[in-house]
Amino acid sequence: MKIAIMGAMREEIDPILSTVEKYTSTEYAGNIFYECTYGGHELVIAYSKIGKVFSAITASVMLEHFKAQTLLFSGVAGGISKELKIGDLVMASALCQHDVDITAFGHPAGFIPEGTLMVEADAQLRSLASEVAVDMGIDLYEGIIATGDQFVASSERKEWIEKTFNADALEMEGASVGCVCQNFGVPFFVLRAISDTADGGASDDFDDFLKTSAQVSAKFILEMVKRLGH
Ligand code: ADE
Repeated sequence: MKIAIMGAMREEIDPILSTVEKYTSTEYAGNIFYECTYGGHELVIAYSKIGKVFSAITASVMLEHFKAQTLLFSGVAGGISKELKIGDLVMASALCQHDVDITAFGHPAGFIPEGTLMVEADAQLRSLASEVAVDMGIDLYEGIIATGDQFVASSERKEWIEKTFNADALEMEGASVGCVCQNFGVPFFVLRAISDTADGGASDDFDDFLKTSAQVSAKFILEMVKRLGH
C-alpha cells in the first residue's frame, strides 16, 4: 500500500526521514516529497508549511499526484484537556475548524454549508493505533482536535474552543487535511504529541518542546506503518 506521511513543519518529518534513511526527493507544487519503502510499504513523506491552506495543498498532491491510498499526519499540538501534559500523544477521533465563522447567517461556529462541522478520522487506523499503544506501553489519548489558522496562546481563546467544540487539543492543519481526505475518499489519521498548553506560556513551551514532542509522534507513526496491512 502507498502511504502518505505528512507534517506541517520540517521538525515534524525529520525524525521520520532519519529513520527511513534512504529516499528520493521530488519538488512539486511548492513542496519536497520524499519517497522510500519502509515496513513493506511505499511511503511519500512531506511537510506542508504551517496552516490550513498549505496543508490542504500538500494533502491533495499526495493523494492525486503521488496516489497515496492512506494518509497519516504526525506532529505537535497545544493541549486543551487537563489530562494532556507536554509529550503526551493524542489521536483525533474527529476534527473541526475553530476559526470558521459564518454565525452572522445563523450557522453554528465552525460550520460551512454543505460541509460537516466535524470530519471523522478512520476507525480502523484508530483501532490499529490503540493496539500499537498497548504494545508499546504508551498512554494514547483519543479526542476532538480543533484546527485553525492561529497559534493559540491565550487561556480565553483556548477555553472558548474547548466550550464550543468540546475539543481536547488544537493545532493548525488536521481538519484541513482531514477534509481533503474525506472528499477524496481516502482514510486518514491525525496524531499529535503535546508541545504546549495553548495559554500564556505557549510560545516558549512550543520552542522548547517542538523537537522532542515531534519525535514522540513520529516514532509512533512509524510503528503503525510497520503494522499496516498490505
Ligand atoms: N500547535 C502546537 N501548539 C499550538 C498552539 N498553541 N496553537 C496552534 N497550533 C499549535
